[in-house]
Amino acid sequence: MKVVVGVTGASGAPYALALLRNLDPVHVELVISEDGKKVIEHEADVPVTAFEELADATYANDDLGAPPASGSHRFDAMVVIPCSMGTLGKIAWGISDNLITRAAAVCLKERRKLILVPRETPLAASHIENMLRLVLREGGQVGVCGTCMDARGITDAELTGDCHRSTLNELADWALQADRIAVF
Ligand SMILES: Cc1cc2nc3c(=O)[nH]c(=O)nc-3n(C[C@H](O)[C@H](O)[C@H](O)COP(=O)(O)O)c2cc1C
Repeated sequence: MKVVVGVTGASGAPYALALLRNLDPVHVELVISEDGKKVIEHEADVPVTAFEELADATYANDDLGAPPASGSHRFDAMVVIPCSMGTLGKIAWGISDNLITRAAAVCLKERRKLILVPRETPLAASHIENMLRLVLREGGQVGVCGTCMDARGITDAELTGDCHRSTLNELADWALQADRIAVF
């Protein structure tokens, strides 16, 4: 199994590190955006190189000639964790101007698994619209970050519809097994 992991410039770099550790020994191809690197420096207690060491291959986000940019490069799933609102918007609207957004577009057009872990607070209407756009258009499940629920005092009973409290373990499972887009 081969998974592409994109790390963008939203808060939550430690979640990306935890996922990379959970995915081991899956073959991981890692792309970190420039702002993703800045957030790692702010938030993680390890350097960017520690993230890269957990991957089997790393590519620069401006390298649109790298393998994940091509539909003929077989990978099974992609996770963008954390996913900035900028990257979410580009994916929702099909703008492929860097390797992360291009690889996500490849997932959508090739009907491969794509998992986004968006993070922003508070959310603007456009952010919610972009998440809904992807979930409604592609079909999918919504798992809510349990840590974020606890931080905000949100109980399970307050979640509506198909939302449920999720975990990093479930995220790793989704990366390996899900066949639909999921917004965590
Ligand atoms: C320390 C730091 C934290 C940030 N946190 C967030 C965030 O939580 N969510 C978000 O959407 N953008 C956040 N941003 C802004 C994004 O990094 C910025 O919009 C960037 O252009 C996103 O580009 P990328 O998706 O290619 O990484 C943050 C920026 C910095 C420097």
